[in-house]
Amino acid sequence: MSLVNAYCSEHTTIESELQAELRRATIDSVPMAMILGAPEVFTFGQNFIRSFGGKRVLDIGTFTGASALAWALAVPDGTGEVLTFDINLSDYKKYGVPIISKCKKTFKKIRAIEGPALENLDKLIADGQSGSFDFAFIDADKTNYSKYYDRCVTLLRKGGVIFVDNCLWDGSVCQETTRTDESSVAIHEANEKIFHDDRTYSAILNLGDGTHVAFKK
Ligand SMILES: C[S@@+](CC[C@H](N)C(=O)[O-])C[C@H]1O[C@@H](n2cnc3c(N)ncnc32)[C@H](O)[C@@H]1O
Repeated sequence: MSLVNAYCSEHTTIESELQAELRRATIDSVPMAMILGAPEVFTFGQNFIRSFGGKRVLDIGTFTGASALAWALAVPDGTGEVLTFDINLSDYKKYGVPIISKCKKTFKKIRAIEGPALENLDKLIADGQSGSFDFAFIDADKTNYSKYYDRCVTLLRKGGVIFVDNCLWDGSVCQETTRTDESSVAIHEANEKIFHDDRTYSAILNLGDGTHVAFKK
């Protein structure tokens, strides 16, 4: 991380004790801990959710539950809910559930849904839930990013906000010569799609590993 980015992160990130405990447990015990979301991205997302009174959140890619926990802390008690999707919830059950469930009112807000996220988002659309979510965080398999974005635009209400995580993919998306793997190609295609999409206003921020923020018109 550059000095500038480290300074920005230090002056942005606010983590609760529960979040710090889950981050520590993930880093200490899960071999794939490097795929954890960046804490400054969580704080920024929480700021959005809190400032516009977001209640319903889509969290695509659960892993140990760090992003789902961040959104659950930001939505209101009683009416707030976070639907988190993962093809395999074993890391969430092993690491996330024992820690997050220490705070019952936060844990109650998270509904974890196992299986291919695309199918489960399509089920929500078929169930008539389009236009009913306030915020979405896209952070699962990169090759489906464009499809996740489309589903999220449908499921969000007007004014709803989408964060697409890892949209810079360590800089590899920036040049054709470095877009050599399928994730870089897919993320670049999603970035192009979002930039040209008339359904949203958007901007790429150099926050975390790149955060593409889209606001539904
Ligand atoms: C980068 S991690 C998510 C990190 C998490 N959001 C956080 O902030 O810590 C990506 C997750 O996407 C999940 N995943 C991969 N392919 C998927 C798919 N087709 N449907 C749902 N989840 C998938 C993986 O199992 C993995 O846990």
